[in-house]
Amino acid sequence: MKLLHIDSSITGENSASRAVSGAIVAALRAADPSLEVVHRDLVAEPLPHLTLDVLGNPEGTPELAEFLAADVLVIGAAMYNFTIPSQLKAWFDRVLIAGKTFRYTAEGPVGLAGGKKVFIALARGGYYGDGQPAAAVEHAETYLRAVLGFVGIQDPVFVVAEGLAIDADTRTKAVAAAVEQAGALAIPA
Ligand SMILES: Cc1cc2nc3c(=O)[nH]c(=O)nc-3n(C[C@H](O)[C@H](O)[C@H](O)COP(=O)(O)O)c2cc1C
Repeated sequence: MKLLHIDSSITGENSASRAVSGAIVAALRAADPSLEVVHRDLVAEPLPHLTLDVLGNPEGTPELAEFLAADVLVIGAAMYNFTIPSQLKAWFDRVLIAGKTFRYTAEGPVGLAGGKKVFIALARGGYYGDGQPAAAVEHAETYLRAVLGFVGIQDPVFVVAEGLAIDADTRTKAVAAAVEQAGALAIPA
């Protein structure tokens, strides 16, 4: 099985989402050492904004090919300005391609990429859970669920570390809890 590991935080070694996405990959690898893992660091190797040339290329992009080839995806996503990093948005712009990962029908859009297992490590400075005052401005988890659902992936597993900007102690505990949660994950049958 092929696992595609994507990271998109700009904060390098201090990144919570990178720590948690790495812990997810380590857990899945421990359970299945035969996993073929490819790591794409969208900050070390950023993709340009989408252009018509890229969108109209009938050959598609290497990012689309890599996504289609993957059985498992692990995505590290930081919340920046209430949504995902623009680096990760540029990657999704190359993955949501009509005729490849979704198609329109008379009954509405149909996802063509179902069957992949997706794990997301999401790091947020504040609190955005149900009932929180900021829940209505959460556009990272909601965006990720929407785009993944659009291509047919309805059941992504989220590991969320949040409240990370409150203070150092809260951050340390939240990241540790998320890493522990990640360590217990397995690829569903
Ligand atoms: C440029 C920038 C914008 C941010 N915007 C938000 C935000 O809108 N809401 C929030 O809760 N936290 C915000 N944060 C805090 C990050 O979500 C938090 O630091 C988190 O740990 C980022 O993930 P990372 O550690 O993997 O980089 C922001 C941080 C940065 C650097």
